Parts: sequence; C-alpha cells; structure tokens
Amino acid sequence: MKGVILAGGLGTRLSPLTNITNKHLLPVYDKPMIFYPMQTLVNAGIDDIMVVTGGNNAGDFLRLLGNGKDFGLKHMNYAYQKGEGGIAEALSLCEHFAKNDKVVVMLGDNIIGGSIKKSVEKFAKMKSGGMILLKEVSEPRHYGVPEFSGSKIKRIIEKPKNPPSNFAVVGIYMYDGEAFEMIRKLKPSRRGELEITDLNNMYLKKGKLGYDILDGWWADAGSSIEGWFETNKMVSLYGANKK
Ligand code: DAU
Repeated sequence: MKGVILAGGLGTRLSPLTNITNKHLLPVYDKPMIFYPMQTLVNAGIDDIMVVTGGNNAGDFLRLLGNGKDFGLKHMNYAYQKGEGGIAEALSLCEHFAKNDKVVVMLGDNIIGGSIKKSVEKFAKMKSGGMILLKEVSEPRHYGVPEFSGSKIKRIIEKPKNPPSNFAVVGIYMYDGEAFEMIRKLKPSRRGELEITDLNNMYLKKGKLGYDILDGWWADAGSSIEGWFETNKMVSLYGANKK
C-alpha cells in the first residue's frame, strides 16, 4: 500500500501566516502541520509515501522531511504541483507512483486524534474500488457531505448550503489504481478545480465506494485561522495519532 500527502495549494485562507511559507509547514502545537498526516500514514503501516507540494517553498519540504528515515520510511518521494488545480489534480501527479498499487491519500491539513489502521486493513482486503472515512460534525456545510439512502451513500455534495446529513467526508481517501483513469475523465468545477468529491461520486456510480466512520477527533487545520487555532488546542489537550 502506498501513501500520498497532498500539501499543495496557496493556503490563502490562513494569510498573512502563509504569505512567505506553505500552510503545511506552519506549527500545530509542537510540530509542523505535515508531521501529523505523515504519522497517521506511518501508524497505518505505510512506509512508502509521496508528498505533493507547490509554490515557492517546495524545497523546504525536502529540508524538513528529507529521506523520511526519521519517520521510519523505506521511501520518501516528492511531486510538484504548478498552481492550484484541485485535490484530484494533485493526486493525478502521483500516477506513476501509485497506479499499480492501492493508495491511501491524506490531505496535508487534516489531523486526527486516533488511528486509521483498522480501516486501511479493511480496504487492503477489498478486491477493488475505494473507501472514504466519515465523521459526524456540527457544521457539515464546510465539507463534502454524503447523502444516504438507508445505510448506503447515494452521492456526495461538496460544501452544500442545505446539508443532507450531519456527516463530513474526512480528507483521507483510499483508492485502487483505477482512480487515475477516472481523474482523466473529470471536468473542472465552477471554481476551476478537479474536485475529489467528483472522483468519489464516480466511484459511487460504479457501486465501488465503501465507507467507515472515523474514530476519535478530526480537524481540518487549514480551513481558517479559527480552525487552525482550534486544532492547536485539540492537539495540546488530547494528543494526536494515538494508536
Ligand atoms: O478537510 C476535508 C475536506 O477537504 C473535504 O470534506 C472536502 O470534500 C474536500 O474538498 C476538502 O475541502 P477543503 O476546502 O478543505 O480543501 P482545500 O482546498 O483546503 O484543500 C485541502 C488540502 O488539499 C490542502 O491542505 C492542500 C491540498 N491541495 C488542495 C488544492 C486545492 C493540493 O495539494 N492542491 C490543490 O490544488
């Protein structure tokens, strides 16, 4: 199983903190933000990771993460995203790295209190398809939101004004190699991005998207200054990536 961390984008929502550095290099409590998704993947048993980044500070990721040995990785790989073409576009840059394997993709600004090991093990046993993680939240309209029919997901709506459920799609996605074929068929959304929600809806239409509920707390540290501050508090009070 391969791991991918997406740390591109401009991070303008955290400006001016991000005027001279990449959002994922900012501190969250006592570590740079990107250390948290790295540890999440490592704790799930993944030892071959590719980080996708962009902008002017891409070289700083190499200085910070190096060859990944500090995390116990076998291989550390890097890709560079020009501009901000969306989460699915950033993932498409990993095709050569992950197309012949299964991959766990994590957004570089997502931080969790617990572990995804059980879900990753479940996904590893699936013959094909993808898997997403859901978490019940108080403000689902800020996220991708699943609409259910019974216990099955009918579709996912990105940042809906009237959320059809109280669940958010967490920024941790598991795919088989078919994802890269599907991304080629995506069209840019109204905000000009290749959306990960559109990829997930493609998997749903094929009847090939499973889901699990994430255990423990979850935070999107990059959504706003308030979100970033709140995440710092969560990590200091409860700790992150507990096994
Ligand atoms: O946090 C979970 C949410 O993440 C999901 O519920 C949504 O469905 C999903 O679209 C996403 O929404 P955000 O608005 O939080 O995405 P954002 O634009 O903040 O991007 C999240 C991360 O993805 C960011 O930390 C870096 C990476 N990214 C993003 C873009 C747009 C890239 O690497 N390249 C990009 O072009």
